[in-house]
Amino acid sequence: MYNNLCMQKYYHIITYGCQMNVHESEKIAGILEELNYESVDDISKADIAVFNTCCIRENAENHAFGNIGMLKKLKAVNRKMIIAVGGCLPQQMGKAENLHEKFPYVDIIFGTHNLNKLKEYILLKEKQKKAVIRIEDCDGSVSEDDKPFRTSYPNAWVNITYGCNNFCSYCIVPYVRGRERSRKSENIIAEVEELVKQGYKEITLLGQNVNSYGNGTDEITFPELLKKIASIEGKFRLRFMTSHPKDFSEELAKVMLENPKICRNLHLPVQSGSDEVLKAMNRKYTSKDYLAKIEILRKYIPDCAVTTDLIVGFPGETEEDFEATLELVKKVNFSSAFTFVYSRREGTVAARMENRIPEDVSKRRIMKLVELVNSLTRAHSSNYEGKTVEILCEGFDEKKRMYLGRDEYGRMGYFKSETDVIGEFINIKIQKTNGVSLIGDRVQG
Ligand code: SAH
Ligand code: SF4
Ligand code: F3S
Repeated sequence: MYNNLCMQKYYHIITYGCQMNVHESEKIAGILEELNYESVDDISKADIAVFNTCCIRENAENHAFGNIGMLKKLKAVNRKMIIAVGGCLPQQMGKAENLHEKFPYVDIIFGTHNLNKLKEYILLKEKQKKAVIRIEDCDGSVSEDDKPFRTSYPNAWVNITYGCNNFCSYCIVPYVRGRERSRKSENIIAEVEELVKQGYKEITLLGQNVNSYGNGTDEITFPELLKKIASIEGKFRLRFMTSHPKDFSEELAKVMLENPKICRNLHLPVQSGSDEVLKAMNRKYTSKDYLAKIEILRKYIPDCAVTTDLIVGFPGETEEDFEATLELVKKVNFSSAFTFVYSRREGTVAARMENRIPEDVSKRRIMKLVELVNSLTRAHSSNYEGKTVEILCEGFDEKKRMYLGRDEYGRMGYFKSETDVIGEFINIKIQKTNGVSLIGDRVQG
């Protein structure tokens, strides 16, 4: 018995990037659990440390590089520790070799398309001294039978599509995730049914562009898929991300209206309010098209919370272009937004564009944009004061000593409770708002 305990092996996973990566780390954890590894919070105690990386912007990449660099010391003390680096960063052309040269103590390097072979790579590494470097072409098949070790109860992520065909000119994703491919609807529905049975209360469907689900195959459309999933019995919430404005349809708005399990919250990245910039970004819509889509959405669901992604400092962005973005943000009245400074990604079309925007100009623009977005977010929050909302409790904040969770519009709410209510729907009456979040008292309802 004692011997067995001593033999216990531990893993620690560090995740960078989007929800897709968060869920893929759950798949990596699934593989490691199957190999009898156990999760450990302290990385220095890990027998295997996995970095699941992102390369969407330069700072995401630098962040991962920095942390991998810091492991050199740990590895010097614990020579048996296996260090694995996977995900989008090594999938970029030439980056795996680059990583190996820079960090020769990294044992395993894998990409976005072969994480399901991690077990094989670990077993191989245990046998050989040489690093295992495996990057595969990411255009291939669809992963249908992963066994994720889920870590985000009561929320569960479910992939519906992989890859992206849009080639927005700034974006590296199509190069590191390959062409768009859809999972079979029957497998998605069976996975959600099982999750609801297991007690998961919020299901988020994942894809780079969920609206084009089924494109080019004989599969059902995205609104049809949503309708089927929303008709699964049991109390749960349904979310999806991300939607591309060009594929957002009236049919989708109708399905959202008719199915109360689908949250009144749409993340619809606009990127810019300037038609010139949108064209150069290859987004395939104008600001007018975008506003028309929002109008359709609000015709069906007037109170729908709309969130977005915005980029400033795209090559050639003039002061007028930037002003157009501010105007559009005000017009749509987003409930919140992710704001980014354009980051040049080698291999993309925009990387070859001239008229790069000086850093100080981008900085000034992002500050102005953040200020505007924050003021809208605060105004949306203050509308909540005195109202009662239903929160799905998803955790406990040790610092605040309060439970927390989101309402269906995506707002974070905090409240006190004598008992553990994680995974329960709780009504709270909002007493105070604090910029992005709400603070309330539990009420019966
Ligand atoms: N597939 C999703 C998410 C893509 S990445 C979508 O299409 O919306 C998330 C966000 O990162 C993008 O919406 C964009 O705003 C931002 N982004 C992508 N590439 C970027 C780059 N090179 N520089 C700055 N921001 C970028
Ligand atoms: Fe990138 Fe555009 Fe695809 Fe989103 S839709 S992942 S921004 S190329
Ligand atoms: Fe990053 Fe890859 Fe997601 S580049 S944003 S982790 S798809």
